[in-house]
Amino acid sequence: MVTKSMGGGWTTRTGFILAAIGAAIGLGNIWRFPYMVYENGGGAFLVPYFLALFLIGIPMMMLELGVGGKTGATTPLAIKKTVRESEFLGWWAAINGFIVLTYYIVILGWALSYLGYSFTLAWGREPNLFFGQFLGSYYPLIAMLIVWAINFIIVRAGVEDGLEKTNKFFVPALWIIVIMMVVGSLTLEGASSGLRWYLKPDFSSLLDPNIWMNACGQVFFSLSLAFGTMITYASYQPKNSDVAKNASIIALANCGFSLLAGFAIFSTLGHMSFVSGMPITDLIEEGTALAFITFPAVLNILPFSIIFSILFFILLIFAGLSSSVSLLETTAGPIIEKFNMSREKTVLILTLVGCLMSLPFALSAGNIGFVDEIVSTYGLPLIGFAEVMIFGWVYGANKLRSYINEVSDFKIGRWWTWMIKIVIPVVLGYGILGNILKQPGLVIVLVIILAAILASINSRFS
Ligand code: PHE
Repeated sequence: MVTKSMGGGWTTRTGFILAAIGAAIGLGNIWRFPYMVYENGGGAFLVPYFLALFLIGIPMMMLELGVGGKTGATTPLAIKKTVRESEFLGWWAAINGFIVLTYYIVILGWALSYLGYSFTLAWGREPNLFFGQFLGSYYPLIAMLIVWAINFIIVRAGVEDGLEKTNKFFVPALWIIVIMMVVGSLTLEGASSGLRWYLKPDFSSLLDPNIWMNACGQVFFSLSLAFGTMITYASYQPKNSDVAKNASIIALANCGFSLLAGFAIFSTLGHMSFVSGMPITDLIEEGTALAFITFPAVLNILPFSIIFSILFFILLIFAGLSSSVSLLETTAGPIIEKFNMSREKTVLILTLVGCLMSLPFALSAGNIGFVDEIVSTYGLPLIGFAEVMIFGWVYGANKLRSYINEVSDFKIGRWWTWMIKIVIPVVLGYGILGNILKQPGLVIVLVIILAAILASINSRFS
């Protein structure tokens, strides 16, 4: 039961959908998706991407919204209600999300600082050097504390007054900004050559299994699946809320946003190449290098560069904040629920612990890549796998499907059961096997998960 003292629930269906879209749209849509498309076969990548979206992403989103809606509980309790012995997997998801949050916030701090620098284009002619000096200064630390404070204020205010109200502003603003950027960037000279690089299909790349796995990984991360976020968000809805249609809207909005962001980024890079004469392949980057080195260089030469810069960094900040608050809620929600602690106290403690944990990343950016690698190996694929095992096999996908069909605006057929019970576990299992080859220690973790699931199956039927 979500009570007022816990922060209330969503007041409207739109409020929930916007918050879930806010959780999904994040840095991954802006600096990872366009690069993935380019790197994995251009337009041809859209084939595995859309297949992964429809066969894996949307069914999995339905599973998470269904579980949250049916149990009315955040992830650990939702799992516990189904299989007692596996509650810890829900905590694992929450902790995993919290670790991601601790460096996600540091990066948002950089974006906030760069928003400040945008007014004077302070990075000058050598954005590369400037970024290095910036990272070596105390600014990342100060900015990190500010971003933590913002997250604290929003999540402390609760689901209704914090998450719902802010996302009602963030999400429409995100769309307006990205559309403005697309329109602005398409008019630049050289834009079309940039777009050709973005979408030029290389169908031979489809023969490479890695590309298919990359598409699945992107879909999972981008939709914020296997972190417990969507289960927890869905649990704050009124009883019998729609699942199938909401899941489809959230997933399609997220993917549409990614495609738009790619248009803005690649037409801008095309213009840079046109003006500077540099081959575009030298300009294409992802992640922090794209946002804090390449883009500032590009922004220098754009018409209305200050406005463009401000829009770009606001875009990163809004996309990031609407995701970071969802990660903080994913951790806070279960603690409030299980230990009956007040929201104020829980969020305060998490913020203080989080600031400490963010410290190593704020002081040395090099730590981020390393931890990111660990959480993406020991987190997402294993938790996703555990989810489909627990809810698809132990609880029963067909049972969950009947619930979904009872409450949803449209019905889902048997295909869904197949996806949840067979296709998704096989795909995630394949990913996990690949990770085991790189990090054999993973086998131990896998055995623990399987043992917990088996134990619970046993106790259910004995
Ligand atoms: N989906 C977010 C992004 O694309 C990241 C995220 C993952 C946020 C999990 C919340 C939970 O950046």
